Amino acid sequence: MSLKWHLLIRMTLLGLLCWAAVSLAVIASAASRTRSELEQRADRLAQHMELDLAWQMTAAAAGERSPELSRIAAAMPEPLCIRYVAMNGREDEHGCETEPATRAHHRLPRWLAGLIPVAPTLERPVRLWGQTAGTARFTPDPQRLFDAEWNTVRKLSGLAALTIIALDALVFWMIGHALSPTRQIVAALDRLAGSGVPAPEQLPRYQVREFRDISDGVRQLALRLKQASDLRDQLTSKLIRIQEDERRELTHALHEEVGQSVAATAVAVALLRMRIGDGEAMDENDLEEIDQTVEQTQVALRSLLLRVRPPLFEQQGLVSALNDLVTGWRARLRGRPQLHLATAGHDLAGIGGEQALCLYRVMQECLSNIARHAGDSQRAEIALHCGPRGVEARVSNDVPGDRIVSRGSGMGLQLLEERLRSLGGCLEIEATASRFDVCARLPAGNPA
Ligand SMILES: Nc1ncnc2c1ncn2[C@@H]1O[C@H](COP(=O)(O)OP(=O)(O)OP(=O)(O)O)[C@@H](O)[C@H]1O
Ligand SMILES: [Mg+2]
Repeated sequence: MSLKWHLLIRMTLLGLLCWAAVSLAVIASAASRTRSELEQRADRLAQHMELDLAWQMTAAAAGERSPELSRIAAAMPEPLCIRYVAMNGREDEHGCETEPATRAHHRLPRWLAGLIPVAPTLERPVRLWGQTAGTARFTPDPQRLFDAEWNTVRKLSGLAALTIIALDALVFWMIGHALSPTRQIVAALDRLAGSGVPAPEQLPRYQVREFRDISDGVRQLALRLKQASDLRDQLTSKLIRIQEDERRELTHALHEEVGQSVAATAVAVALLRMRIGDGEAMDENDLEEIDQTVEQTQVALRSLLLRVRPPLFEQQGLVSALNDLVTGWRARLRGRPQLHLATAGHDLAGIGGEQALCLYRVMQECLSNIARHAGDSQRAEIALHCGPRGVEARVSNDVPGDRIVSRGSGMGLQLLEERLRSLGGCLEIEATASRFDVCARLPAGNPA
């Protein structure tokens, strides 16, 4: 069901409820007004009877008299059932023919007819010369009373029905008009969900605050989506570039380090063969050169393999792998800057799997950044700390002089940030005039 119809039905129900409440209040107030009018009329009728009795007593011989009920009733604007019960029990009445139940009463449902009050019977003492001469009972015409009440209710219902219909039509039009921006917002969200990201200025600035907030939200969403998809494109092309660079680097390393060593070994072996062919005497020292080149080849191969494939943390442990990594970089950097590794926390041994690999990659990138961007630093601190709230890896180095350090346009730190976020962690970078500080956090309890 559309919001328009939903609101309209609610409004109509509310209108009907108000109408019922107002009708009940009107019926109750009309009933109490009728009752007080009847009370006044009964008082007047009783006085009429007393006067009539007194007049009869003075005008004629004394004896048992009854008031002239027809004359008294004629003085009343509306017909009434009047009964007079004398002290000796004699009863006179006028206008008390039994009334058939009103037609309207029959037509009404029982619960509705029950809401309309029935005519009361009022009783008054009739006094003559200060003594009670009899009792007067008055019953109003129920048909007239009921018709009067029913007419009030009918008029009120007609008026209420007209008001509700007019209000419904007005509200239907107004809600339709007020909700018209939703169509544009839904269309913009559909476009957002589809492949095309809508331009932020496609939604107009609405006057209604709620719609303005929603459209601002959609605009922000579109902007964030665009930024995210731009970043994703950049990261994808960066990944491809890194892959290509890595392949090129590996080819060079294989060619320069392993290839050269293998060639040197081949030359040494060829020389040995020539000397053996010439019948030269050989000893163990002649094989020394071959031994050395084979050993160099093995070292070069091991370092290449480590670059391509990280160590097995389950076997070696993260701390030991980090020690190896830092030692390797110490050898490469030759003390510019000096690297200090500190590890603390009894749970460090328990870090493994994705978390360990992620932290290892953080350290790798930070150390490679130090080598590339902080060659003039004196000292770099590398710390790994494990607490109850998670693991924290921090790499910081001094920045000598007043060199302005910025995050630049590189992707290394951004990729790390993405990687940490995918594991529920975060990366904080603080670049000041004198320090560059990178802090990676991972929550505790991540799958190992
Ligand atoms: N240890 C550091 N000391 C000083 N500046 C640094 C340090 N690490 C990073 N930076 C600065 O932050 C920038 C961003 O580093 P990031 O690793 O994201 O990119 P990059 O190293 O320049 O390129 P790449 O995408 O190849 O990693 C660097 O260009 C550099 O200016
Ligand atoms: Mg980098």
